[in-house]
Amino acid sequence: MTPNPQPIPGRDLVGQPVDRVDGLAKVTGTALYTAEHGLPGLTHAVLVTSTIASGRIVTIHTAQAEKMRGVLLVMTHLNAPRLAEKGQAGVVPPAGRILNLLQDGQVLYNNQPVALVVADSLEHAQDAARAVRIVYAAARAELDFNQAKAACYAPKKARDQAADSARGDDSAGWNSASCGVDVIYRTPMEHHNPMEPHATIAHWEGDQRDQRDQLTLYDSTQNVSGVRATVAMRFGLPPGNVRVICPFVGGGFGSKGSAWSHVVLAAMASRQVGRPVKPVLERSQMFGMVGYRPLTEQHLRLGAAADGRLTAMRHDVIANTSCMEDWMEPAALITRMLYRSDSQETSHRLARLNIGTPTFTRGPGITSGSFALECAMDELAYVAKLDPIAFRLRNEADRDPGNGLPWSSKALRQCYAAGAERFGWAGRDPLPRSMRDGHLLVGWGMASATYPAHRSPASARVSILPDGLALVQSGTHDLGTGTYTVMSQIAAEALGLPLAKVRFELGDTRLPVAPGAGGSQSVASVGPAVQAAALAAREKLLALAQADPESPLYSAGPEEMILEAGWLFRKSSPQRREGVAALLARHGGLSLEATRDSRSGAEREAFSMHSFGAVFAEVHVDPELGIITVPRLVGAYGVGRLMNRKTGHSQLMGGMVWGLGMALLEKTEMDPRTGRAVNANLADYHVPTNADIHAIDIIVVDENDPHINSLGAKGIGEIGAVGVAAAIGNAVFHATGKRIRDLPITLDQLI
Ligand code: MOS
Repeated sequence: MTPNPQPIPGRDLVGQPVDRVDGLAKVTGTALYTAEHGLPGLTHAVLVTSTIASGRIVTIHTAQAEKMRGVLLVMTHLNAPRLAEKGQAGVVPPAGRILNLLQDGQVLYNNQPVALVVADSLEHAQDAARAVRIVYAAARAELDFNQAKAACYAPKKARDQAADSARGDDSAGWNSASCGVDVIYRTPMEHHNPMEPHATIAHWEGDQRDQRDQLTLYDSTQNVSGVRATVAMRFGLPPGNVRVICPFVGGGFGSKGSAWSHVVLAAMASRQVGRPVKPVLERSQMFGMVGYRPLTEQHLRLGAAADGRLTAMRHDVIANTSCMEDWMEPAALITRMLYRSDSQETSHRLARLNIGTPTFTRGPGITSGSFALECAMDELAYVAKLDPIAFRLRNEADRDPGNGLPWSSKALRQCYAAGAERFGWAGRDPLPRSMRDGHLLVGWGMASATYPAHRSPASARVSILPDGLALVQSGTHDLGTGTYTVMSQIAAEALGLPLAKVRFELGDTRLPVAPGAGGSQSVASVGPAVQAAALAAREKLLALAQADPESPLYSAGPEEMILEAGWLFRKSSPQRREGVAALLARHGGLSLEATRDSRSGAEREAFSMHSFGAVFAEVHVDPELGIITVPRLVGAYGVGRLMNRKTGHSQLMGGMVWGLGMALLEKTEMDPRTGRAVNANLADYHVPTNADIHAIDIIVVDENDPHINSLGAKGIGEIGAVGVAAAIGNAVFHATGKRIRDLPITLDQLI
């Protein structure tokens, strides 16, 4: 367990393993999640979704449902309000998506929303939703990836980079190699499955005829501002007429990074019935309209010289998208930056299927790409007869090979060393099937991990209130990640107040604007804004004290003034001190406020910024049954300055649990005839449970990044999931001698 020493209040609070400040609210049930907000006159909405993957609605019978008890509205494409923006255009990508908003009778995937039933109770709405009868004219649906990929095409971009890249001469590098691997890896569709389903409550106030009506949305989202932009555009409203509130999220993992159809549909229905409308997606409805990680086929061709130097790296990715949007899983981006090599070519291609649109899923692209790259690197290490770590060290990149920039900081070597030491890697016999524990085959594998250190503009406001409490506000999000806690730490440290005197508010578009909680960027984006606002508020407080003849700080020089643990005093005479509230009381119960915007600058052009890590896995494989267990995982990470050793370790650990799920359990099984997920529930879609998880050891190495931001913090939200599937796959090879290139690795592939 992580030790939990009591931190010194107000001093060096950042980094301390303090408990979650929202922990009590969560365990006592007073933390309200979206569906738990009660509003007067609240009505319940149930979505009716398509049962074909392609075609159109010929007839939709709603008369029976409309007559049923408690039913207020059955909204279909025949009676839905026409929107200012029909839903066929995105807003600002990536927040804005192509939505299914009942504007026509076209069906492009199974489980697509085709009607919304609103009633006075959930049961009445469910009952009536079942009574809606639909006659479809089915068209041919493309559900076979192998067929679809014959017509694959290049997307405009692979995330923020070009779809294709080429450096050096790939065929020359390949031809000059003394050894190589030329292999295909596959990853399946995966659904995020947060515990809290997607949910929205939409509530209009005011008069819609003069377009001055106000819409309030409670929404389970990773991006309140993105939801506001999407919904305002769809209704042709100024964004200021829409407020989005989301104080708690029960997991998102990327699935709640966009405003999906049900959010806009709830707002449409609420305007119709004149009451608040609440749709909560059923678990099965989360397999289609709210995104997933697309499947990939990844062709890796790696060549190395006799001494292990990479001479050629080629990584070609085909992933599926929907028939509505070009969503690219950028799986080859990792190959552009992780190792140096004489030549390097990458490509991304899309294949259209009649399935809902994919989206961000924890470590988008990098996680799926790392499985292919890091397993292929292991294969090549075996061919070259090199230790996997030695092989990687030989190809360590001292600059970003993709853009030629120096790293802002990189602790990958330290991660290899610290992880190997903790794991006991030196005791590994590299020969496959050479290590045993009783009758079980033992395998040890490792992989590198990395994730870009993003940052977006963010704002924060700090108010020092008359009672000496600081209210800190920013429209960011806490998905269970610890945002409330680490932002409180950052503010308390900068202000010189104890943690208990700081209250952090987030998840509301009325607060200063922050980016979506995605791309592992919240701390690096919002943290500096909070810090800057807190320092500015502190300056105001000290200026007040300095000008106040009754204050112990009266006419003190800046170097003499101390504000610590909520007390103001002179460095030279700490015994004469005054509390913040007493100072403010003499000034008529004043509040002091400061708002600061924060954004990156020229450093982003000068440096390449990434987190790095090394993952080690031990697997036990039953030689008769093929059953795989993972008795231990070790992850060593260089992520700049860690804000909280407890929540940070938890988040990295959670990422590694995700990686284990990807390696051994997770796969969405699409019925090839209907395009509907057949395991659309938590009994059949396997995520890791406690029984699957044994020891997970997290190491965060010391890393001082002077360039990244004022906190020195890189992101940690996604890197934990990166490399784990490869480390486990490599361990399975070491245990069994079988190289499994299709995820998940299941026992049938081993016997
Ligand atoms: Mo993350 S997949 O950007 O929520």
